[in-house]
This record gives sequence, structure tokens and C-alpha cells, in this order.
Amino acid sequence: MHCVILTLFPEAIRPYLDESILGIAQAQGKLRVDTVDFRNYACDPHRTVDDRPFGGGPGMVLKPEPIFEAVQDVERTHGEFHKILLCPRGRTFDQRRARELSHCERLLFLCGRYEGYDERIRENHTWEEISLGDFVLAGGELGALVVLEAAARLIPGVLGCADSAVLESFEGELLDYPQYTRPREYRGMAVPDILLSGDHAAVARWREQQARVLTAKKLGADPTEATRHD
Ligand SMILES: C[S@@+](CC[C@H](N)C(=O)[O-])C[C@H]1O[C@@H](n2cnc3c(N)ncnc32)[C@H](O)[C@@H]1O
Repeated sequence: MHCVILTLFPEAIRPYLDESILGIAQAQGKLRVDTVDFRNYACDPHRTVDDRPFGGGPGMVLKPEPIFEAVQDVERTHGEFHKILLCPRGRTFDQRRARELSHCERLLFLCGRYEGYDERIRENHTWEEISLGDFVLAGGELGALVVLEAAARLIPGVLGCADSAVLESFEGELLDYPQYTRPREYRGMAVPDILLSGDHAAVARWREQQARVLTAKKLGADPTEATRHD
């Protein structure tokens, strides 16, 4: 997968991109991530990327020219990308979309700042608009990192254990079950006996029951209902 992130703050996100799972995926050659500062495509000596909104109002708006030029240059060099625009009005991101995006060959992310984008940026490109949720961030960079990490970890071979990406929350109907590791007891808190029993069938039943309870709680349902058939 080849990703390009258009941002005014490439230095802010580069360290995160090069660590942990994203760094490993790049080292394995399964992922390439380029950051592009679209200020480099500004067409005036002051490298202006924002301006006051027509009609008045607070704040500054991202100008169309640097972003149009940057997208055009990236696609001229590398070919067409699936283009993602981070914004609060987009569709809320989820695991299903992460899995779909993990199959994309080329992803381009546009990170907004200030009051957001000149509307013509939306009109003249085919963007998938993605939101992280119903709140307002200062910029789209965290959104790009979230979407990219969720998708990239699902590229086959990126996670050390293939099962990790299957046996986890939002992949099926249930959230993940509670996990424990050594020590067996810590500050008076003991690992549930069942996990030390060696009875694999009983462990599997316990885990499913716990997952049902956690899922019901998250959905605001009665957790006792979730275990009624066990
Ligand atoms: C301060 S916000 C602009 C908010 C915009 N004026 C509004 O009220 O919808 C600046 C940038 O942060 C990013 N952003 C803010 N909230 C976001 C969210 N919930 N999901 C994804 N990106 C977000 C977008 O790229 C946005 O263009």
C-alpha cells in the first residue's frame, strides 16, 4: 500500500509513522508513506495556504490552489489514489471501513486546518469524507494517522499473528474478552482460576460469556440477558 498524506505539519506526524506497527510495515516493504507539505504548492512568495472567508466570519479557510496543485502533482507522479478528506461532516470511521481500505493500493489523505477547506476543493475531486466522531479537532493529522493505522495493520503479514486481526473487537458481533498475563496475582488481584485450569473448552466458554457481557454493557443492554443461555 502506498499512502500520501497532504499536511501542513509533516514533522509532527513523521515520528509516529516511523514507529511500531507502521514503521515495521514500511520496513517490511508492505507499506510506503509519503508526507507532502502542501504549502510547497502555494503560488505566492509568502507561501500562503489560507485566507479570510468570503461573506465574513471567524478564522481562516484553506485556499484551493495549493491543494489542487498538490493532488495533481502526486497523481501525475504515482497514478490515481483513493482520496480521503478528514472532516467532522464525513462518515464516522469504523472497523469495517478499515478492513475495506486495507485492500487499497493507493490512499491519499488530506488534513485540514483552521476553519477547514474552500468548498471547491470538495466539488472538484472525488473524496471519501471521513470523520473520527462528533467532536472538533484542530487538524486532520490525527484522523489520517488513525485511519491509516487501522487499515495498515490489516494488510496481510503486517501483524505478527494473523489471528490477532480476526479475534478482536468489531471483527465479529462481540467485543474482545478480558485478557490476563503474568503475574498470577498482583496487589491482591488474582487471575480468574478458569484461565489457569488447562480446560480449553471451559476457557473458551468463559471468554465468550465475558465478551457477551462486555458487548451488552457497551450497547446499554442488560448484561444478565447476555449470559442467560449459558
Ligand atoms: C478546526 S477543524 C474545522 C472545523 C469546521 N470549521 C467545522 O466546524 O466543521 C480543522 C480540521 O480538523 C480536522 N478535523 C476536525 N475535527 C475532525 C473530526 N471529527 N474528524 C476528522 N477530522 C477532523 C479536519 O481536517 C478539519 O478541516
